[in-house]
Amino acid sequence: MFATKQAVASDFGCASASYEGAARLQRQMGDAMLATIAQPVPQGATVVDLGCGTGWYTRQLAQRFGAHTVGVDLAPGMLAYAKALGPETIQWLEADAERLPLADQSVDLIYSNLMIQWCHNPQGVLRECLRVLRPGGQLRVSTLLLGTLQELQQAWTLADPHQKHVNGFISAVDFAATTVEILPAAHWRSQMITLDYPTSMALMNELRQLGAGYKDIQRRKTATAPGRLKQMCQNYPQQPGGGIVASYHAGWLEWRKPLLTPLTCD
Ligand SMILES: C[S@@+](CC[C@H](N)C(=O)[O-])C[C@H]1O[C@@H](n2cnc3c(N)ncnc32)[C@H](O)[C@@H]1O
Repeated sequence: MFATKQAVASDFGCASASYEGAARLQRQMGDAMLATIAQPVPQGATVVDLGCGTGWYTRQLAQRFGAHTVGVDLAPGMLAYAKALGPETIQWLEADAERLPLADQSVDLIYSNLMIQWCHNPQGVLRECLRVLRPGGQLRVSTLLLGTLQELQQAWTLADPHQKHVNGFISAVDFAATTVEILPAAHWRSQMITLDYPTSMALMNELRQLGAGYKDIQRRKTATAPGRLKQMCQNYPQQPGGGIVASYHAGWLEWRKPLLTPLTCD
């Protein structure tokens, strides 16, 4: 079971105008990842923001590195929004991260904040990064792992046991195994982040404003009955002082492509 690329592109595109107002977790995780890029990229370098969304980090990367900066996204609606904000020096490219229309060894830095968890084939994305990075090029990827939105998942399971309502996430063990297989010696870390919300409906609204609602092909085509929604809210664990928390299992990957690829002997 998975979300179609069409649903991903359409939901994010429709959310472009509301996204920034709701992107608390995205900024927290993206800022932490940006801070890990200590090494300057070379003069005339190419930097790619993979799954750039509204271009928040694309603009920061362009400003910081003064490089040829490319924002890549699947959603035309996100790209149109990002492009309208400028600057004109940034190149915007509608493309799928699993099949990048970029030449081999043409990129010096790939930065990808919270995009890969939307891809059916994360291995394919990492292989594409490996292919397009120049020797010595750097890769930064953040993702969400199993355990993300576990409270919402449990509340929905009790309220509507025969219907999924929350996107699935890969386990930390599986993601680490995938990464090590494709990018040997990659540095990997994960952390549980919790965000506060006044109510579980506020959490549901934030996911909608981000375009990050449930997208599986098996999602109900009709609206969920108000009774079930009410039941979900009642099942969601409340904090002693009021309000709720949502858990996000955040993962970050850092890798540098070796300068020399080892020679193989026949
Ligand atoms: C949660 S948003 C993150 C946006 C941005 N990186 C940020 O930090 O705000 C995920 C973005 O990834 C894009 N995306 C999802 N799947 C993609 C794919 N296969 N190829 C390219 N972009 C994709 C979505 O359209 C969306 O704009």
